[in-house]
Amino acid sequence: MAEPSTADYIFKIVLTGDSGVGKSNLLSRFTRNEFSLESRSTIGVEFSTKEVQVDGKTIKVQIWDTAGQERFMAITKAYYRNALGALVVFDILKAPTFQNLDQWYNEVRANAGIDCCIILVGNKLDQRHIRAVLSEDAKNYADARNIQYIETSALDATNVEQAFRTLIADIY
Ligand code: GTP
Ligand code: MG
Repeated sequence: MAEPSTADYIFKIVLTGDSGVGKSNLLSRFTRNEFSLESRSTIGVEFSTKEVQVDGKTIKVQIWDTAGQERFMAITKAYYRNALGALVVFDILKAPTFQNLDQWYNEVRANAGIDCCIILVGNKLDQRHIRAVLSEDAKNYADARNIQYIETSALDATNVEQAFRTLIADIY
């Protein structure tokens, strides 16, 4: 028999952004403290849960990890429904993943509902010496949309917990 959930709240959040930016590794780092250099591209959608404490309340977070590959776009759209939060992720080493942000941002805005909290995540900070996207440009993108910007590394775990926690606190 399944353990009864003791959570006070259940939050659905989604991870979105171009293929290869590190969404699945951000998720595995956050939920299992795992990272893989040879992770496979996500097919369709996968999900994991984690319970976190905020203000003495237990929040069960369901995190939906969508495929960034174009061919899955029609399926993944449906998964934004009822999401309370979204991490829109790009790769600081790859300018096209930053240039494509509007596509993902607009998808979330169009499909998740008006109140969905969004955080912009620039991932692969461990490789900052070869970055192609300036922090300032990403910060400006986020400011223009009234959302927060955070830089992470799923590889060395920098700011991963903070990115999810900031979003969860925003929803809460
Ligand atoms: P799709 O499932 O195709 O949408 O891709 P994804 O966004 O889930 O990317 P994934 O997590 O599979 O990572 C793609 C590649 O980037 C893998 O080789 C990871 O090991 C690598 N990667 C992910 N995060 C980081 C990071 O923070 N730093 C470095 N250096 N590599 C990373
Ligand atoms: Mg993936």
